[in-house]
Amino acid sequence: MSRSNVVERLVEGLKRLEYRGYDSAGVAITTDNLIDRRRAAGKIINLEAELAKNPLNGNKGIGHTRWATHGEAHAHNAHPHSSDKVAIVHNGIIENFADLKKDLQEKGHTFESETDTEVVVHQITDFLTTNNDPLLAVKQTLKKLHGAFSLVIIFKEYNDLMICTRSGSPLVLGYSEEDIYVGSDALALAAWTQDLVYLKEKDLAVIKDEGQHFSVTIYDEQDIIVERPHHQSRLNIDAVNKGSYNHYMLKEIYEQPFVIGETFNSLVENSTHVPHVIRETLTQLPLAEVNRIAIIACGTSYYAGMTAKYWLESYAKISVDVDIASEFRYREPLITQYDLVIFISQSGETIDTLSALRLVKEQNVKVASILNMPESSMARESDYVIQTQAGPEIGVASTKAFTCQLLTLAMITLQAAHAKGHLSTKKLEEELNTLLHLPSKILNVLQHDEAIQEISKQFVEKRDVLYLGRGTNYPIALEGALKLKELSYIHAEAYPAGELKHGPIALIDHQLPVVVLAPYDKWFEKTLSNVQEVIARGAYVVAITDTKGAALFKNQGMKNTHIIEIPIENHMLVSPIAYSIPMQLLSYYTAYFKGTDVDQPRNLAKSVTVE
Ligand code: M6R
Repeated sequence: MSRSNVVERLVEGLKRLEYRGYDSAGVAITTDNLIDRRRAAGKIINLEAELAKNPLNGNKGIGHTRWATHGEAHAHNAHPHSSDKVAIVHNGIIENFADLKKDLQEKGHTFESETDTEVVVHQITDFLTTNNDPLLAVKQTLKKLHGAFSLVIIFKEYNDLMICTRSGSPLVLGYSEEDIYVGSDALALAAWTQDLVYLKEKDLAVIKDEGQHFSVTIYDEQDIIVERPHHQSRLNIDAVNKGSYNHYMLKEIYEQPFVIGETFNSLVENSTHVPHVIRETLTQLPLAEVNRIAIIACGTSYYAGMTAKYWLESYAKISVDVDIASEFRYREPLITQYDLVIFISQSGETIDTLSALRLVKEQNVKVASILNMPESSMARESDYVIQTQAGPEIGVASTKAFTCQLLTLAMITLQAAHAKGHLSTKKLEEELNTLLHLPSKILNVLQHDEAIQEISKQFVEKRDVLYLGRGTNYPIALEGALKLKELSYIHAEAYPAGELKHGPIALIDHQLPVVVLAPYDKWFEKTLSNVQEVIARGAYVVAITDTKGAALFKNQGMKNTHIIEIPIENHMLVSPIAYSIPMQLLSYYTAYFKGTDVDQPRNLAKSVTVE
């Protein structure tokens, strides 16, 4: 809500939110007893083209970029949705929309989209027609909605009013001298205001043009007027640009030596001085007392958790369970007061992970979260927050956030092992010193960029790729397969190399490339035998290994094998982080040569805020 035209700012803000979804976009304004809107299928660039053809002006407006849930990615399903009385943007899912829609249709409402959102439009319109009270109509509607949602509503006959509310999905208000902003992420508002108020669960805010100023009244779940604290955002939108790189993803891959170093520095005081002192962020974790650690996350973050299981069990002798958040939250998990539950999320907004976190907190168990976004819902709801220093990650496929999560988990492992008495102070110092030098090792791995480009060209036409790894590199193989699927749409699967003979070996023929992660570690000899088995069946193998491993591969005179030699010594904490880099480059270049949309692959969103 502003004193000047908001449409350009709406579009600018949506661009910063495009990581949430890019199936369609739209804006609507309310002015002089009129609601007017522009919408377009596809990315925001299409909305800009539509606005160039049919400009829109107004001082009060809403905008949305959509990740399709109900209804295809078409302009008629794009938000804002509107009636002759209101227009709405919505994040989340209205789970009981089918029942509500049926009732409304019976009352004579006609729908123009397949979305769940449109029932909210018609339900508010329905109440408004009878009571002529916008606030009451919204409150009555909210009582009927099931699911997770955030909503912003403008009214045709009440141009001085905007109502927003959240239940499950995040919403933040931004205050500036002139204007009031509302967004689902502080990043969307960062260009205009740093003065933020995060709405609490089930809050409803009424923003009103009082003539001389704008007022904001917040009602809590009990319908009582409340004050919510103001936060000063530290987000820097200048960090969000591609520089000289073709894609954000490549830039983010190349940022890893720096951000890994920054993450290390954030966890260790005076990181170049010996002895190293681990900061309170980690020492305050109740690691000495815990019997068991549960790690919960989704996607790439889940694979970081899987890697940490190997580390924590080996170094700290703590039993670790790793769960996919969407499974954990629905399977009546057993968590006790003696457990530490660690959530991992780049965005801090993934609804499955956030809901799992809330489930654990309901049981009065303390939670720690490893997050890249300090101003996120999970950061606000966790007992301990360990922030990675990856910086804004714009490419939908996670790269630098993943390796920073791994480093953070490696540090937690060392702290836990020391706290439990399984790692002497001298040994801890040695391990920290190894991690201190991780950035230069990553730089070294990045020098294999060109060799990996050549291999990627051979992957472009492939239908399937198999990834194999053992131990700490099994989760990295899983991550490699996920990256390839996400970016190039090539079917990829990862298996622990030892599991191959129990079924997947049937897939092997001369068409199938097999990527093997094989540092010279305690699993190496076994992996080498598995590689012989796939070569014997005609597969083409890409082996990623170190100098010792490469010598042994060559010694065995393997046919059809391309070796990428990473000249760094094997180390249990370092190896999975270092071997993630060739996985990222392989997927990036395969997608690049195939010509897919690297930064915004089809059907995906960076932050998945619906179930
Ligand atoms: O933000 P989060 O770490 O919670 O996101 C979890 C997954 O959605 C995410 O890692 C996803 O798998 C990425 N697209 C991976 O590249």
